Amino acid sequence: MEKLVSLAKRRGFIFQSSEIYGGINGFWDYGPVGVELRNNIKSFWWQRMVRLRDDVVGVDTSIICHPQTWVASGHVASFSDPMVDCKTCKGRFRADHIEAIPCPQKPSLTVQACAGDKKGPGELTEVRQFNLMFETFVGALRDDSARAYLRPETCQSIFTQFKNVQIVSRQKIPFGIAQIGKSFRNEITPRNFIFRSREFEQMEMEFFVKPEEPEMQKWYEYWVAERFQWFQDLGIKPDKLRQRVHSQDELAHYAKGCVDVEYQFPFGWSELEGIANRSNYDLSQHIKTSGKDLSYFDETTKEKYVPAVVETSLGVDRTLLTVLADAYAEDVVEGEERVVMRFSPAVAPYKVAVFPLSRKLAEPAMALEKSLRKRYVTDYDDVGSIGKRYRRHDEIGTPLAVTYDFQSEEDKQVTVRDRDTTKQERIAIDRLEDYLKDHLKL
Ligand code: GAP
Repeated sequence: MEKLVSLAKRRGFIFQSSEIYGGINGFWDYGPVGVELRNNIKSFWWQRMVRLRDDVVGVDTSIICHPQTWVASGHVASFSDPMVDCKTCKGRFRADHIEAIPCPQKPSLTVQACAGDKKGPGELTEVRQFNLMFETFVGALRDDSARAYLRPETCQSIFTQFKNVQIVSRQKIPFGIAQIGKSFRNEITPRNFIFRSREFEQMEMEFFVKPEEPEMQKWYEYWVAERFQWFQDLGIKPDKLRQRVHSQDELAHYAKGCVDVEYQFPFGWSELEGIANRSNYDLSQHIKTSGKDLSYFDETTKEKYVPAVVETSLGVDRTLLTVLADAYAEDVVEGEERVVMRFSPAVAPYKVAVFPLSRKLAEPAMALEKSLRKRYVTDYDDVGSIGKRYRRHDEIGTPLAVTYDFQSEEDKQVTVRDRDTTKQERIAIDRLEDYLKDHLKL
């Protein structure tokens, strides 16, 4: 993890938020290559989940919505984690994670070892529940009537807008509504870099089906398989992915069943995505609380019912951490150790880097890079030796690097170097676009 965090900063993937003020725990900023990687991951999801399907449509809803939404969903009453305070160091910790959280004052000990096992001076309070929703006030008043929440999940507005979206999109059940957007949770102990943060982005899809067991089960199994495959198509190593079925006692208050897709992170197997059978809990709750009819009328069978839901829900940031961890490799090239990010071309921040061998060749090399920009995200790099530029782009994960040299002026060819094999080939400039297309498959 330390190597990954250091590379993420060094190459401009991720910075600590508000670093100049000492940072703010649980918040992160994405740099120039981080934002490209992030956008590529989101596009990869949107393309597969919305654009390539005729049974899923997209929405983009507001972060703050009517506070009754969170009463209906159950979040005001029960979206909480167990918390303990240490009476000695005044630290505040998630009670079910103390066996893994280092003590702030004695980082060689976990909080549990420092307090529970009496190896250290720590003394913990009783466990109590802490609601994770961030509160704010809408308008000029600061009283209960103005209290609102930053959404802790994106899906609730999909439920409250279900009827509007179904009507305008002319969709018939079964169909889904997808959304990518920011969510906020006041996590007691944010940790493991961007794995658990207080501001993050989710990619969620709610698939509405007839509330009958065989139909629910069919779609539940379909979405577990489809989502598991998606990670492999993203380029994640299959042996680092697994599915884990939730036991009854760990199910969220709305769920009848849930399967997590887990990844073997440097800190162990952890949840990446949840695929849940939410039954018709959410729509029923919103019908009850708002008094509005959100049921569905089947024109063919003339049946009216409240649809049940299979949800697929994953974090953009957690997926990005997975992509970073999975791509990270160290090897030896020409007797020199290098770090290389073996991103699949679809998610790599830059697809091609263009280097002039000398700054005297800036004009034609820049012209070449500009011509490639129309199709690919490229980077023009003229700083340091060619070897240094290769190393830099290996760490950014750029699949191909094109060098324009003095010979290029004569023979109208350039050298293309492959990030993974480090093999170099001379390619005619007028064939370069076809070559890139063949190799990047984009
Ligand atoms: N709508 C269902 C829902 O939100 P969840 O298991 O609480 O379910 C879904 O969250 C996904 O959102 C997780 O699998 C994870 O990828 C991401 N996620 C949740 N909390 C997060 C946090 N604090 N930081 C980063 N990602 C988070």
